[in-house]
Amino acid sequence: MSTRDSEHVVHVRAPGKVNLALRVGPARPDGYHGLVTVFQAVSLYEDVRAQEAPGFSVTVSGRQAAAVPTDDTNLALRAARLLADSAAVDKGVRLHLTKGVPTAGGMGGGSADAAAALLACDVLWGTGLARDELAELAAELGADVPFALTGLTAVGTGRGDVLSPVLGRGTFHWVLALQGTGLPTPAVFRRFDERQAGPVAEPVLSHDLMSALRAGDPRALAPELVNDLQPGAVDLAPQLGEVLAAAADAGALAQIVSGSGPTVVALASGHAHAQSVADRLRAAEVADEVLVVTGPTQGARVLESMRGPAHPGPA
Ligand code: C5P
Repeated sequence: MSTRDSEHVVHVRAPGKVNLALRVGPARPDGYHGLVTVFQAVSLYEDVRAQEAPGFSVTVSGRQAAAVPTDDTNLALRAARLLADSAAVDKGVRLHLTKGVPTAGGMGGGSADAAAALLACDVLWGTGLARDELAELAAELGADVPFALTGLTAVGTGRGDVLSPVLGRGTFHWVLALQGTGLPTPAVFRRFDERQAGPVAEPVLSHDLMSALRAGDPRALAPELVNDLQPGAVDLAPQLGEVLAAAADAGALAQIVSGSGPTVVALASGHAHAQSVADRLRAAEVADEVLVVTGPTQGARVLESMRGPAHPGPA
């Protein structure tokens, strides 16, 4: 490997997500739950920079970086190794993650890291996989990883990994209430199981939800926001009850726990309304951080693929 190759840096950005509806079905023999969800990618991102190296390593900076493991359990590192194994690549990578999405926040931050790492390594190593081949690898890494590749708004079925796009219009304005401590997704699904008195029905999405998205109408969307994992997440993190109440008091159109939590996502009617809800939520002091974001946003994409130093090396 020449010096110039070793300085090839690929920068990929992938979005976090909120689940506008998350309807969970019965547990399956493989430990997953069948579900139906509507994902929307929002303007909170994970940035992954990949550089060729002899082995595999990862470093992390940004929001809640200290909570992210840098050992072999790191999902971006697992993504890089999976691509190397399946494409028979005999190269390594040094990854750096700059986190914008909360860690273990129910917004798919780890999934975005994995999606971004897959795409970054594909470009870095020149493996040239098609998007659907990347999506297959993504599904092996986690149920939400394929969505972080595709972004925008999509219905997820199966484990959440079988996607069909939702052709909506307009931009939605969301206020996020972040918590300093995350919730482990498996524990929230377990709590969901424990709460069920009888058999769990097969989940379905409402027709009105899909019409609201097609129309880009936040007032029509508000009553359709639903999350079957929310009661279990509130059991495990009771302060979320206060956050949800504070979001309602702050004038949000609707509020739900995002995914497995603990992030709470509140819907606003536009930019100015979102700022006002955010200000009032901050004043309520129920969240560690309050952010305003928009959706939908694009899936994982290459921002830069920069080769070598400015001065030319030997031919
Ligand atoms: O796929 P991922 O690793 O993100 O999922 C984390 C955990 O969340 C799974 O191991 C499982 O316990 C739970 N899960 C589930 N059903 C899903 C998605 C996730 O039970 N559809």
